[in-house]
Amino acid sequence: MRLKLLCVSVLVIALCPSLFAAEVQPFTPDMKDSQVMPPNNFICQTMLAGNELITFRSWIDIPYEANSPEPEYNRLNVYIPEAYFHDGGTINGYNAKTAPILMPNGVGGYMPGRQFVPANDNRHGGANIALAGLAHGYVVVSPAIRGRTLANGKAPALIVDYKAAVRWLRHNKDKLPAGDTEKIISDGLSAGGALSSLLGATGNAKEYEPYLKEVGACEERDDIFASAVYCPITDLEHADMPYEWIFNGVNTYHMGAAREMDKNMQEASDALKKAFPSYLNSLKLKGYTLDENGNGTFRDFIEGLYVAAAQKALDKGENVQGLGWLTVEGNKVTGADLAKYAVWATRMKAAPAFDSLNMKSYENNEFDDRHFTEYAFKHSTADKPAMADAEKIYIMNPLNFIGKDGVNAAKHWRIRHGVKDRDTSLAVPAILALKLRGAGYDADVAAVWGVPHDGNYDLPELFEWIDSICK
Ligand code: DHB
Repeated sequence: MRLKLLCVSVLVIALCPSLFAAEVQPFTPDMKDSQVMPPNNFICQTMLAGNELITFRSWIDIPYEANSPEPEYNRLNVYIPEAYFHDGGTINGYNAKTAPILMPNGVGGYMPGRQFVPANDNRHGGANIALAGLAHGYVVVSPAIRGRTLANGKAPALIVDYKAAVRWLRHNKDKLPAGDTEKIISDGLSAGGALSSLLGATGNAKEYEPYLKEVGACEERDDIFASAVYCPITDLEHADMPYEWIFNGVNTYHMGAAREMDKNMQEASDALKKAFPSYLNSLKLKGYTLDENGNGTFRDFIEGLYVAAAQKALDKGENVQGLGWLTVEGNKVTGADLAKYAVWATRMKAAPAFDSLNMKSYENNEFDDRHFTEYAFKHSTADKPAMADAEKIYIMNPLNFIGKDGVNAAKHWRIRHGVKDRDTSLAVPAILALKLRGAGYDADVAAVWGVPHDGNYDLPELFEWIDSICK
């Protein structure tokens, strides 16, 4: 251990002489400078990522909106591998010019999201996405993003901020010591996955312009190259329907303690389930439809995603027998039954899952404590039911922008959803993927065996995908 520490120290001093002159110093410029990458305010660190030592420079807390209503919050961190500061330095085949820029967001629950800081604090063990990304040769840029609990953080603040951070990067393209601003990749899970998909789907859409102007975002393009999306809580104004398409008939829900859905909730479940096929068919997903009973090629597609996940697990030697919803014949998973899946997975949320009848869900709060669907508004049990602004609902939904004229969506998408995830229906990320494919984009979608509502659990595979689209 001592020897290891000594080696690390020697290496750090050799690679990074500024280390001992600096601590992490928040960058506190005059706000008029907030659109500029500060050249010398970095610190240098060396960390162990897996078996590898990675040395990198960090710029901390750079403001990225000139008129942010939450100026202490709207700051981003830039991390660049030290190798890119040395002539001919490469990592994993990338150099200072070609390194992709990985831009993970830390949003969860539509709450404010903090910047990622490279550390060995991945809940799945080892390096987090920022540290592992640096070790893999990416430049990592992570903005803090406003969320619903800040005075100025309700919809659409989160997407305005993510876009402003992309614009800041483009604005500083020539000052950025490394990283290819044409290879920006977003990443997030859950509400952060919704955010990642929104950023990917809405590049340069004019609808966000007034909001971006208001916060003093740089005047630049905000389209990105690729989006990594885990279990996105998205398509909010329609997501109640596919939730019931899967969970209708399971009346016990598990938000904290197990409880029974009351009569209003059960009626909502029946009505929303019934409404799903016509919504799905209205999307005109090429080759995917449902009949009025909720059966058809779209259902086959969803069951197929579960079958593929189970097959992968079975191939790795995991036991997928006896769960009551999969058909397994020898070494082959041959079928999945959605109704039985719901019994196995159990229901997490009462109906409606997102636009709550009592107007108290995370999503109601995100929309200023208002409803955002006609069903919940009509059947509201809140004291003073109110409907959110239609324009805000519209610009929070990535589906509205895919294939739209004048919008530059990300070319590449990787969408993942845990088989045990009951925070939203698998139909939601599947619809996102099919809509993207229909518009000609490359969308890789899969369900992942053994995974609940989560993300960034498969960094080696995520990075393999990034390399496959960047190299
Ligand atoms: C998140 C989870 C939810 O179930 C939800 O409704 C909104 C957000 C999250 O983990 O981000």
